[in-house]
Amino acid sequence: MRTPLLAGNWKLQPLTRAEARALAAAVGSGARGIAGRDIVLAPPFTMLTTVAEAVADSPVAVAGQNLYWEKSGAFTGEISGPMLVDAGCRYVLIGHSERRQFFGETDYTVAKKVGAADACGLNPVMCVGETLEQRDAGVAMVVIEKQVRRGLVELTTEGLARLVIAYEPVWAIGTGRTASPEQAQEVHAAIRAVLREVAPRGIAESLRILYGGSVKPGNIDELMECPDVDGALVGGASLNADDFLRIIHFQESSL
Ligand code: 13P
Repeated sequence: MRTPLLAGNWKLQPLTRAEARALAAAVGSGARGIAGRDIVLAPPFTMLTTVAEAVADSPVAVAGQNLYWEKSGAFTGEISGPMLVDAGCRYVLIGHSERRQFFGETDYTVAKKVGAADACGLNPVMCVGETLEQRDAGVAMVVIEKQVRRGLVELTTEGLARLVIAYEPVWAIGTGRTASPEQAQEVHAAIRAVLREVAPRGIAESLRILYGGSVKPGNIDELMECPDVDGALVGGASLNADDFLRIIHFQESSL
């Protein structure tokens, strides 16, 4: 009943708009005709309109990788939600672990951004996940539950219905070390249990929880077997059109 969502997070790549256009066009044409799956690309800000144009007649939607919560003002270097909408975005990533780790994002800023995304009609993809130290110390679920609860405090009930959560264990990002399907399912089920407490039941059941962290063509099929894994947030493998197309076409025997 939940439409799988496969999103490519390009992070700080590719380098030029021409490269972005070519990659997005290849994904767009390979995604044409896909049914029952939502496909999203999250390029850097300067490539948003280029990518939006390149995928315009395909099922692929576009996401920002970040936003600021104020709509306008003296906030040098920031981009607002309405600007993302104007650039062709329907989604926005919020609170990626790289933003928490390198750019000082906290559960407070994440909540402000989730609320701002809601206010301008963007679908927030709120990222959560534990570090290796936290997992080894046995506090992964405590950390994740706190991130989920605190990240949602600014969200309206209508906004909740548009929310997407991405579980990305920090130790699995860019390391080639994927969480096992069992590890992913355990955390996803726990996140859904939290959602049942903070959201009306129907909404909690309908929200998509993505897994991210070294998702590749070789592991997407088994990850998508898990009942509470509703899609993937893909980093490195989304920079190669063939790999990302294999991922969005997961479990299709014709490939
Ligand atoms: P990798 O797929 O490169 O591990 O990155 C995951 C990620 O951070 C997606 O947001």
